[in-house]
Amino acid sequence: MANGVLEYNEKQLVLQAKMGIRGKYKIYPERIYLNLTNRCNLYCVMCSHTSKDYKNKTYDDALPFSTTLEDIKRLFEGGNFPDELRQKPIEFCSFSGETFLNVNIYEIFRYIKEELPCSRIAVTSNGTIPPVRDDIVKYIDKLAFSVDGSTKETYEAIRTPASFEKAKAAMARWYEAKLKHESEISFGFNVCLSGLNIRELPGIVRLAHELCRVENVYCQPLITYDKTKELKKYELNNIDVREARKYLEEAVNAARDLGVRLDIQQSIWDLLDDSKITENNKLAVDFTKNRYCQNLRSNSLVLTHDSKLRYLCSFMHMDQQRELMNKYNIPAGGNMMDLLNSPQMWKLRKDFIEGKCLGYCGKCLYGQSGYNQLSTSKIPEEVKDEGFLAGLLSRFKK
Ligand SMILES: C[S@@+](CC[C@H](N)C(=O)[O-])C[C@H]1O[C@@H](n2cnc3c(N)ncnc32)[C@H](O)[C@@H]1O
Ligand code: SF4
Ligand code: SF4
Repeated sequence: MANGVLEYNEKQLVLQAKMGIRGKYKIYPERIYLNLTNRCNLYCVMCSHTSKDYKNKTYDDALPFSTTLEDIKRLFEGGNFPDELRQKPIEFCSFSGETFLNVNIYEIFRYIKEELPCSRIAVTSNGTIPPVRDDIVKYIDKLAFSVDGSTKETYEAIRTPASFEKAKAAMARWYEAKLKHESEISFGFNVCLSGLNIRELPGIVRLAHELCRVENVYCQPLITYDKTKELKKYELNNIDVREARKYLEEAVNAARDLGVRLDIQQSIWDLLDDSKITENNKLAVDFTKNRYCQNLRSNSLVLTHDSKLRYLCSFMHMDQQRELMNKYNIPAGGNMMDLLNSPQMWKLRKDFIEGKCLGYCGKCLYGQSGYNQLSTSKIPEEVKDEGFLAGLLSRFKK
């Protein structure tokens, strides 16, 4: 960056991390991922978590749980959630399992918004469940529906055993609720892109606009795991690149015409080896810049219903998460502020911003937005280097 903003910010972040490691600098959670249930009403063909054979229809066949209002209250009470956090603009995200199967969801979201009026609530849902009460839209800021086809055939082949018509009706109900309550809620679509549905991406963009006037359509590539290895042939790197590009370009045009933001993960362009498209396409992302990702640094915590740290970054591959957590010896539980500010977390943040952990990054779009943010405006709080000498002197004084 010619104006030096990025360099300044990078130095600041490294400095903060160094001070954080020594316990001299603290940050607050800006985004907290909540696990509100592990249950799901579907067993989508690509989903690594649930499957038709799992008897409980829960993530990994674990015992079903739904976080209760009491669990949530506990999260915010006592030493776990200091008073100074109450006025912070914290974003709460819920996207594990199917959030709207939690029968307490209305009370939970209302409680969070009433307790923490500066907070934001963002949910990813499969879109098959209409609002439990219309006015729930007053308590949600962003609702993304996962929709993997624009035709009944494709949608139902992927999102088993959902009904396309019923899902469309449910999503339309959400949009009606927004209008009825003049709510600020914004909608989005998430697409798990693969050879099964890429030809329908332009149609999905149109459907998203038609059903809910979405703000954005977000595309992530299909990733297959052992359990879903029969879908490997549909991963984007195994399909016809020229054809795939044609559909992507058509979708980019449809989105532009409708005023929908189309967010396509860099890893998708990479998989399609698209040097031609990325040169002139402003959506292109240089993922080496993901070292500026603010998701780790912005204090995201992924909590289970009993407030334990579960993931570092929900967009990384699970095996890599575990590897990273072991490598850096990240504590698995404890008070929210202590977790965030443990020397181990600070060491990880420092290494990340210095580009030493890029191999672990899942290359999602957070990296790009972190880069955009850090290269355009200085981070507000300036930290002064205590300096080596000052550190030594203070030790002598003791
Ligand atoms: C696991 S789901 C949980 C939330 C909710 N049940 C839903 O479907 O939106 C979260 C997101 O992961 C995506 N997803 C599931 N399996 C995937 C896979 N194998 N590769 C990439 N994305 C996947 C889904 O499409 C969805 O947008
Ligand atoms: S709805 Fe979401 S959690 Fe449920 S099976 Fe599908 S992708 Fe997985
Ligand atoms: S996958 Fe990478 S860019 Fe995305 S949130 Fe995780 S660390 Fe950040």
